[in-house]
Amino acid sequence: MQRVTLKDKTFVPYITSDKISASVKQLAQKINTDLVNDMPLFLVVLNGSFMFAADLLKEVTIPCEISFIKLASYHGTSSTGTVTEMIGLTEEIKGRTVVVVEDIVDTGVTLEKLVALLTKKEVKQIKVASFLLKPEAYKKDIAVDYVGMEIPNDFVVGYGLDYDGLGRNMKEIFVLESK
Ligand code: IMP
Ligand code: MG
Repeated sequence: MQRVTLKDKTFVPYITSDKISASVKQLAQKINTDLVNDMPLFLVVLNGSFMFAADLLKEVTIPCEISFIKLASYHGTSSTGTVTEMIGLTEEIKGRTVVVVEDIVDTGVTLEKLVALLTKKEVKQIKVASFLLKPEAYKKDIAVDYVGMEIPNDFVVGYGLDYDGLGRNMKEIFVLESK
């Protein structure tokens, strides 16, 4: 893995694709055990989660449905703290077990807003699966039930995560180089 430059920033290798797939598989196995009788609806939060969701759901073997929504809150390398509405949810979700699929939970502002929107729709239960979690930044009480990896409060790209729209296609995760 080489360092990469995206616009004005340089990133260094951080999590290899082997480590990523090992933790995604473990996470899927937990979901397969826990939710075997729930017929969950996986709600993939675009854009960042597309790669994690594809890998995760290939390993999820229980009966389930998959849908995609979009929210936006992030500009550059720090969270703006505001989240717009949820776009694209057409499924009837009342009474369902919904598994929110996130790329990363940072401050948790996005997650909190999304959980509030879903709660209004009278779902049966909400589970949260996030590939990455930044425990030092996370300020909310909502349980993140399935976490691939915990990372320090650093800015990362790759595996779906972007810096200003770039880097989502990289299959490894890179971290901003410390100066
Ligand atoms: P939160 O609302 O602060 O939890 O941040 C939510 C969103 O910010 C995530 O879904 C990501 O899209 C983005 N984000 C947070 N941390 C990072 C990062 O380190 N790299 C890229 N995007 C990030
Ligand atoms: Mg996201």
